[in-house]
Amino acid sequence: MIVNETLKIIKQRRSIRSFKDEQIKEEELQAVLEAGLYAPNAGGQAWHFTVIQDTELLNKLNIAAKEAAKHHGLGHLKELGIDETFNCLYGAPTLVIVSGNEQSPIPLDADCAAATQNLLLAAESIGLGSCWIFFVLLAFYSSQGPELRKELKIPEGYKPYYSAVFGYKKDTIIYVPDRKPDLITYIR
Ligand SMILES: Cc1cc2nc3c(=O)[nH]c(=O)nc-3n(C[C@H](O)[C@H](O)[C@H](O)COP(=O)(O)O)c2cc1C
Repeated sequence: MIVNETLKIIKQRRSIRSFKDEQIKEEELQAVLEAGLYAPNAGGQAWHFTVIQDTELLNKLNIAAKEAAKHHGLGHLKELGIDETFNCLYGAPTLVIVSGNEQSPIPLDADCAAATQNLLLAAESIGLGSCWIFFVLLAFYSSQGPELRKELKIPEGYKPYYSAVFGYKKDTIIYVPDRKPDLITYIR
């Protein structure tokens, strides 16, 4: 079995859902963002990253997303929306939203997903905790959606596709979901 630093980081990365209050360092943020910008892309880098480190705005997004979740058809999301103890950003001090230019002739969700994965792996490689977050994007479908888009300066014509939170890991015990066996077919 080949082992190197990259393979180790890929296997070591886990979704972290408990963070210290302390903000990440600027150089750590820049290293993570730069990794995102180096992701493969079919749309000619037609993406945009929004970095949110304002606690009030993070709280506002959490509340708006939970409000939207309360009215969502999926029971699980509804339950989380109602749960007063649930914070969809897990108290992380940094949120990055990855948006794609909808005018691009090529579908951008794959580009934005590749960028998001790069952000997560870069974070792990420098000792930061991270978690891919779908839930918070529900905020854009709440009544506050248009106002939030303005406040976050998401460029006109861009759609927020994915997001991830970053911070210093709080828990030392990290849940590791099993990887399913038999998911590969070899034809040789
Ligand atoms: C598209 C996508 C959306 C996700 N959204 C959320 C989310 O809203 N909240 C959350 O806690 N985890 C979210 N996750 C993280 C997954 O739950 C996690 O990756 C999965 O359980 C595997 O665990 P691991 O990341 O530790 O390997 C998301 C992952 C992906 C790929």
